[in-house]
Amino acid sequence: MRKIGFIGCGHMAKALIKGLKSNKSYEILGHDRNKTNIVWLEHEKISFCTLKEICQKSDILMICVKPKDMYDLCFEMQSYVGKEVKIISIAAGITLENLQTALSAGKIYRAMPNIGARHNLGITSIFSFEEKDEILDIFNYLGKALVVEDEDKINLHTSLIGSTPAFYFEIINEFENRLAELLPDDIARRDITLLFLTSLISAIQNGENLDDLIQSIKSKGGTTEAGLNILYDKGFTSIFSEAINTAKNRAAELSMD
Ligand SMILES: NC(=O)c1ccc[n+]([C@@H]2O[C@H](COP(=O)([O-])OP(=O)(O)OC[C@H]3O[C@@H](n4cnc5c(N)ncnc54)[C@H](OP(=O)(O)O)[C@@H]3O)[C@@H](O)[C@H]2O)c1
Repeated sequence: MRKIGFIGCGHMAKALIKGLKSNKSYEILGHDRNKTNIVWLEHEKISFCTLKEICQKSDILMICVKPKDMYDLCFEMQSYVGKEVKIISIAAGITLENLQTALSAGKIYRAMPNIGARHNLGITSIFSFEEKDEILDIFNYLGKALVVEDEDKINLHTSLIGSTPAFYFEIINEFENRLAELLPDDIARRDITLLFLTSLISAIQNGENLDDLIQSIKSKGGTTEAGLNILYDKGFTSIFSEAINTAKNRAAELSMD
């Protein structure tokens, strides 16, 4: 059984661990400095290790700390990691070259997952010059793995796949806030949201053209057209795209820090 060690067991690591737990090919180990996350590891019956132990025991290390904590951690790991260990960084913006310099050992991969991994519905981009089969297997188990040939593309992935779920959640949040005017009950409201989103998914599942779908709801002079006109007049689609570009640029900035 291969051992995967998670260093930093916050939001994203928890999603990856939850998705991977059912895969019996892997034993999961965890390390964190945050007491709440250490308690969570205990609760999930995942062995807690010191940094030295996790680096020495793991076949694969998944580094899941914030970009600002990355370099200090890598320098601390330097004396513990061997040549053969596969080290995956999921930190936004930290380049492969900087990781190689900071770690100076191991086979290094950049992966950019998203929160969907929690339910094995994640989309993850992988970039590395190393052999990738095992790493692709892991992320395909967690959803879908995409190989990125050009490292710069990771920043767009970070934004489009990593950050955009939060943009959608904001829209759904506002939808639910307005739904509260119709349904005071939280649970009933969430059921309606789920049904609503499922209906959108089934509408696009057949590969129908999105413009045709919009046209099928919109009639001339009707309510949908009136609402859509506000979205267009206020530049909703360009604001959405600008949010994606800003997140992408932020990922590029993080690589300069
Ligand atoms: N969240 C997402 O949807 C998402 C998506 C794609 C990629 N990512 C990437 O995933 C990484 C983690 O994000 P997150 O949202 O999961 O962060 P998070 O919730 O803050 O989790 C990071 C954890 O690592 C701990 N940590 C930091 N430095 C450490 C060290 N030297 N030794 C031991 N533990 C350490 C932190 O402890 P403290 O609390 O004490 O700092 C915290 O518990 C980021 O680099 C981000 O770019 C996140």
